[in-house]
Amino acid sequence: MQLWKGRFKKELSKTTNDFNSSIPFDSRMYREDIEGSIAHATMLGECGIIGKNEAEHIIEGLRGILSDIESGALKIDMEAEDIHTFVEGELTKRIGDDGKRLHTSRSRNDQVALDNKLYLRKQLKGIQSQLEELVQVIARKAEEYSETVMPGYTHLQRAQPITFGHHLLAYAEMLLRDISRLEDCYKRMNEMPLGSCALAGTTYPIDRTITQKLLGFDRITNNSLDGVSDRDYCIELAACLSIIMVHLSRFSEEIIMWCSWEFKFIELDDAFSTGSSIMPQKKNPDIAELVRGKSGRVFGDTMALLTAMKGIALAYNKDMQEDKEAIFDAVDTVKMCLTAFTPMLDTMRVIPENMRKAAAGGFINATDVADWLTKNGVPFRDAYKATGELVARCIELGTDLESLPIEEYKKVCDVFNEDVYKAISLEYCVSQRKAFGGPAPENVRAQAEKLIRN
Ligand code: ARG
Repeated sequence: MQLWKGRFKKELSKTTNDFNSSIPFDSRMYREDIEGSIAHATMLGECGIIGKNEAEHIIEGLRGILSDIESGALKIDMEAEDIHTFVEGELTKRIGDDGKRLHTSRSRNDQVALDNKLYLRKQLKGIQSQLEELVQVIARKAEEYSETVMPGYTHLQRAQPITFGHHLLAYAEMLLRDISRLEDCYKRMNEMPLGSCALAGTTYPIDRTITQKLLGFDRITNNSLDGVSDRDYCIELAACLSIIMVHLSRFSEEIIMWCSWEFKFIELDDAFSTGSSIMPQKKNPDIAELVRGKSGRVFGDTMALLTAMKGIALAYNKDMQEDKEAIFDAVDTVKMCLTAFTPMLDTMRVIPENMRKAAAGGFINATDVADWLTKNGVPFRDAYKATGELVARCIELGTDLESLPIEEYKKVCDVFNEDVYKAISLEYCVSQRKAFGGPAPENVRAQAEKLIRN
């Protein structure tokens, strides 16, 4: 069914209808479409553009459609051109001529921009609370493992000792930025386009502030052309979602490494791992791999939106219908990833002994040897060189800095004495890294406590 039949003599071909139709993907906005139409009808009634009775009649009809869709009594017709067409057609079917008054002073161009914003606002809030939940899981784990020593890496080479809690909290910081990025995106998105009509506003005496208030928008759009042709909020949201996926993907990559036999820092719960059809010993981190893999889709969605928008002359063009599949896919993907990722993290088993063992290899406390010398009066550059010689000696002797005899230390630099051993014990090394932002257990506990909601 088309709304624009009058000018046309022929029916639309089936293939054209299928190609043109957006209902397979925009039907999910039925609630927002009806909510927007109820607000619009209320405003038309209040401004005297349609009769109060007519407005009430329309609103009652729309409410009936909503409850029937929700109960399953009314099926959305997949042959309709889009959700807006379907709802309006159904309304007229139900209430007759008054239904035909609903679209006064409105176009599907401002209607779709409105529906999209109403829908995405909700999705954005949902993703924010999923992120908050993940931050809670991370903070609780960080507190639990605030004293667990593990190697910190650069270039994936063991670098300096840190705590597992500290490592986890790095991800909490990323996710907190994601939450605030979404908050900013919401602020810019929360501007109401309804009343822009097709492109050039309207001659009817509408009051846009009525619909703005009814629908909970902070402001109304200033320019009717921009109101109908802006999709920045989709692009911006997709960009925020892409950054979230970067974070989840990096975290996943580490989880995948950590549960390999080469690391064995953690073990994922059986409920979040899968087996192999041929290799009986295998336990695979498929969830983490899928999250890492799905990041590509979300980046692709962002690229699709940017590309769809970049060459469009003002105002509405049908290219813009492409916004929905891309942004819905990005939203759905991020929601799905968070739904799987959070309980996977929550249920993982941490193996502190293996982290400690890995931290004990690789001369991870070499900087601490140099720092000890520096604190005992040797200039840092000389201390650095002396420590390098000690590491070379350890490699020759097949030992580590903790077990290297004091005579060997003294041969390299006579400032050394027995106190150095205490300073380079891994637990001591991390406990001393207590400058703000560092991995010392007391810092980790303090940061985690700040995050944990009671
Ligand atoms: N389904 C359309 C979309 O998603 C609704 C707007 C249609 N407007 C138009 N002028 N054909 O963009």
